[in-house]
Amino acid sequence: MRPLHPERCTEKILRGSPIPLLRWPAFAAKTPYLLESWTSVTPIGVKPLLYERLVRFYHLLDPLEDHIDESEAFGALLNRKVPQATSLLELGAGVGHGAYFIKSHFSSVTLTDRSDLMLDRSRILNPDCKHIVGDMRNVRLNNTFGSVLCHDAIAYMTTKADLQCVFETAHVHLCSGGAALFVPDCLKDTFIESHEAHAGDDKERSLRCISWSYDPDPSDDTHIYDFAFLLREHGEVTAVHDRHICGLFLEETWLELARKTGFHPEVVERPLPEAYEHRGYTNKMFLLHKPG
Ligand SMILES: C[S@@+](CC[C@H](N)C(=O)[O-])C[C@H]1O[C@@H](n2cnc3c(N)ncnc32)[C@H](O)[C@@H]1O
Repeated sequence: MRPLHPERCTEKILRGSPIPLLRWPAFAAKTPYLLESWTSVTPIGVKPLLYERLVRFYHLLDPLEDHIDESEAFGALLNRKVPQATSLLELGAGVGHGAYFIKSHFSSVTLTDRSDLMLDRSRILNPDCKHIVGDMRNVRLNNTFGSVLCHDAIAYMTTKADLQCVFETAHVHLCSGGAALFVPDCLKDTFIESHEAHAGDDKERSLRCISWSYDPDPSDDTHIYDFAFLLREHGEVTAVHDRHICGLFLEETWLELARKTGFHPEVVERPLPEAYEHRGYTNKMFLLHKPG
């Protein structure tokens, strides 16, 4: 998830509409809706609330404009490395924020995600793209593409077997000579615990959030991304704990599984946004070439 730029973050929290945190107990006694706050301790395989019940708040956490620079860079990289590719398939495209900026680099773009609700947002933003609901581990479109992109959604692969399934999905959907760009948020080699504050408002809703990324068991292939949301809508505030269980693999594991799938992997530098520095994000991306 993209952290707010530190300056914007402070500004929004200090100057934004105050949330009456200190008055909560008295407030809660009078307002039953506050007692309906949700706690989700999401087991592996269960979909996070953010991509289902909370989709209407998603753009407040991860605004469209935050995707401009990176998506332009991904598009330019794919155009340079795979100049013959005119079509793009994105796996885990979410609300299509990245696609909105990358689509100008291709003549046709197909967006897939396992959440139809996330894709609904993208259908409005990207009516010129094709949208298909599907799990990146096993979706099969009976079609091939010049390039494949899998951005932050790859975080939800929590086992080596799942990661390899996604590589196979990319492989079967690529033309010979095509390439798939995978952009993990973090690698086990360089992971560090971190937390971030996020804030966003539109005319109808407000979101304040602390996210906390940590690894309680370094011997396995996962880490936890906990979100503590305060969500205001129609004057009411709800607190939600949404746990995302994410994968955490060594760079060598990525390369080994990619080779096993039949790719020639290339490690390329990710143009990390300033706000991502010193927070455990990796500046490595994996460009997997399917031999021609
Ligand atoms: C952070 S959002 C992606 C946002 C996207 N980069 C954008 O620009 O809008 C992560 C997405 O991964 C999707 N996802 C998680 N596991 C998935 C799976 N197994 N197959 C397909 N999509 C998945 C979620 O539904 C969610 O939409």
